[in-house]
Amino acid sequence: MKIGIVLGTRPEIIKLSPLIRLLHNNLNYFIIHTGQHYTQNMDKIFFEELELPQPKYNLEIGSKNHGEQTGQMLEKIERIFIDEKPDLVLVYGDTNSVLAGALAATKLRIKVAHIEAGLRSYDKDMPEEKNRTIVDTFSDYLFAPTENSRNILLNEGKKQESIFVVGNTIVDAVQQSLEIADKKVNILQKLNLQKDNYFVLTLHRSENVDFKTRLQTLLFGLKLVAEEFNIPIIYPIHPRTKKRIEEFNIEVPKEIITIEPQGYLDFLQLQKNAKLILTDSGGIQEESSILKVPCVTIRTSTERPETLEIGSNVLAGTNPEKILDCVKNMLNKERNWQTPYGDGKAAQKIIEILKNENNIN
Ligand code: UD1
Ligand code: UDP
Repeated sequence: MKIGIVLGTRPEIIKLSPLIRLLHNNLNYFIIHTGQHYTQNMDKIFFEELELPQPKYNLEIGSKNHGEQTGQMLEKIERIFIDEKPDLVLVYGDTNSVLAGALAATKLRIKVAHIEAGLRSYDKDMPEEKNRTIVDTFSDYLFAPTENSRNILLNEGKKQESIFVVGNTIVDAVQQSLEIADKKVNILQKLNLQKDNYFVLTLHRSENVDFKTRLQTLLFGLKLVAEEFNIPIIYPIHPRTKKRIEEFNIEVPKEIITIEPQGYLDFLQLQKNAKLILTDSGGIQEESSILKVPCVTIRTSTERPETLEIGSNVLAGTNPEKILDCVKNMLNKERNWQTPYGDGKAAQKIIEILKNENNIN
């Protein structure tokens, strides 16, 4: 069996890393990198740090409007699939790269395996919600992280036999990388930070950062948080947000210390030792549940409701006072939850299922 993997952004590289490690020297596979993310600290650093093989193809699509970006990916990926003739294509998550990879495959009648299937925020304004819903519609293998996502898929009419609950490979990635991080990096020392004496922030969702007033409101809420606790907020700033802050000519409050996007080892260490994490990221809501660090999500909806149920995460919305209240509440909670995303063997399970389903020893 020949497997094609399509990836393109930071979270896809990180979350696919445990799977790529297992596939390497084990099954016949190739990687297509769409080039949706391309700068050193959004892309290449993850291949280097996580010691991943270089993609066989890099399409170098780069940043574009959604239609143009997805369309160019689709065209180039299709050409490669026609030449390579994979039996199965693996995609992970909900980015434009995922949509293009899955669509190119299914139109050529190549089987599609969607990892992280069945996530729904029910917010149709999110580009990610459109991508993941469409990809789930035609995928042949739906690898759902939790029973909750399985039920979502069943309620949408997906076939029972195409759904497999395997956990999320983010647990595998965190487990594999934390040990290395503790040996190789010391970001706290580098930034002169003490454990539990700073907050970590990430903010990059289009609905939060692409509108001036919304972004200003959120920065004000974050300033309130930093002032109340009198500790800094460390913010590895996503290039989308950096661009918007410059374009809108907004001043970032001095309590928020912006740094470049970090490599995975440094960022894990930053998260693990933080007093609390503030974010609008999908993956970071999951990681905080694994690292047992409380999380406040600066959004009005989440496709990770499991983290709310176990109490590792809370949805703060976008009102500044509400954000501060949520931080206070979360800091009063015990960190005694168990991550809902599995035991760190999701990648292994996915490969075994694919082998079984395709009669490979
Ligand atoms: C994309 C995904 C989002 C995911 C995020 C992970 C879609 C629709 N969005 O959003 O789901 O959460 O990746 O981080 O697929 N830029 C750079 N260097 C890079 C990449 C981007 O400077 O390597 C800048 C460009 O100015 C670009 C902007 O960031 O216009 C946004 O990049 P893009 O890939 O379009 O969307 P993300 O916000 O990164
Ligand atoms: N991450 C990282 N360095 C950073 C910020 C995030 O390595 O400076 C990692 C983070 O640990 C998580 C992933 O990037 O594994 C999340 O990516 P992002 O928030 O960009 O995307 P999302 O998960 O929202 O799609």
